Amino acid sequence: MTATPTTDMILPRVSSLLGLAAVAVSILPSHVWAAPAATGTITASAAVPTTSGLRFAVNGATTYLAGSNSYWIGFLTKNADVDVVLDHIAASGLKVLRVWGFNDVTTKPAAGTVYYQYLSAKGSEINTGANGLQRLDYVVSAAAKRGVYLIVNFVNNWSDYGGMPAYATAFGGTKEGWYANAAAQTQYRKYIQAVVSRYVNETSIFAWELANEPRCKGCPTDTVYNWAADVSKYIKSLDPHHMVTMGDEGFGLPLANGTASTAYPYTTAEGMDFARNLEIATLDFGTFHMYPKPWGMTNSFGPGWIQDHAAACKKAGKPCLLEEYGTDGDHCTVEKTWQAASLAAANDGMAGDLFWQWGDTLSTGKSADDGNTIYYGSSDGKCLIQDHVKAITS
Ligand SMILES: *[C@@H]1O[C@H](CO)[C@@H](O)[C@H](O)[C@H]1NC(C)=O
Ligand SMILES: *[C@@H]1O[C@H](CO)[C@@H](O)[C@H](O)[C@H]1NC(C)=O
Repeated sequence: MTATPTTDMILPRVSSLLGLAAVAVSILPSHVWAAPAATGTITASAAVPTTSGLRFAVNGATTYLAGSNSYWIGFLTKNADVDVVLDHIAASGLKVLRVWGFNDVTTKPAAGTVYYQYLSAKGSEINTGANGLQRLDYVVSAAAKRGVYLIVNFVNNWSDYGGMPAYATAFGGTKEGWYANAAAQTQYRKYIQAVVSRYVNETSIFAWELANEPRCKGCPTDTVYNWAADVSKYIKSLDPHHMVTMGDEGFGLPLANGTASTAYPYTTAEGMDFARNLEIATLDFGTFHMYPKPWGMTNSFGPGWIQDHAAACKKAGKPCLLEEYGTDGDHCTVEKTWQAASLAAANDGMAGDLFWQWGDTLSTGKSADDGNTIYYGSSDGKCLIQDHVKAITS
């Protein structure tokens, strides 16, 4: 999903300030997993999340995983806000949080604004300072303390927080040309090297992710396939222990019965071939997203989209993660049918789902509401977090 950045990212919304604050949700997972060690050298026997057939194995358990997304948690400047969010996520029984591991700029922002990388043909800089990767450091260590695992991605397709368009601004070329732009790819790999080596020994990393929603409109599917094969191999050379995944929307695949569909998300119009990309040996699992309405579909599109991906994952022998899904309005009614469809395929390729996006009350007010947000303590939260976790663990 594209998230609109603002100078003050966490905009309080009057409507969402009514009645929802400080509603405590008391739900404990029926099984408690040991928190991973915060730091330490990873050995072959240490518990980093891995795949186990069509499931994920986390601390020896292969339970279906529920989680969420917070693109903004690593951009918060107050540790207490990070702690509140992760306390709530852990208390909810959610195991996986997907976060933005990138924040690219082409002009350095005013002091106090977080960014991770400055891109320039004259010399890029990775910001390891207090307003840089040290903010992500805090998220990684705070997640580890609570047994929450992080998916960390390295670049955005979209221009929010820089992304491929920022690389094109700095190094020239088009956004579609990014995948084969030597200067852009060199700097992207330098950035990956900086982040991966920083957290290579952290057991709270669930997986490294190549990009958020990579697309290459009108390109042959070879473009993204070749790029993903090369860069995932590079990540494994830096870190052979953690999982690596694409972060794509799951476009371009046949229906579960093997026939082709002409509906837009099933086509390769965006340069993506889901089943072929899954064959890349250095990608450990499949990712896909689901926003039926923005894709010109109706909400009833959901269960089929899930089953078709599960079938492709089963065929490839790798788990599938529905790592983003959302709709405007009617969150509970619509999304609970999607969660049920995913859970029903838990033995047939689906290994977890992460709703878009986590909402909470921070020191600055309510976190960003893009219409999809599910706020902790809300009735949507009861429906899509508490009830879902209960369905998984019972
Ligand atoms: C990770 O562990 C290895 C092996 O002990 C060590 O050489 C390396 O410095 C550690 N890296 C970090 C970032 O702690
Ligand atoms: C994301 O990628 C698609 C396909 O390449 C493109 O159409 C779209 O403009 C991209 N978004 C941005 C902001 O670059």
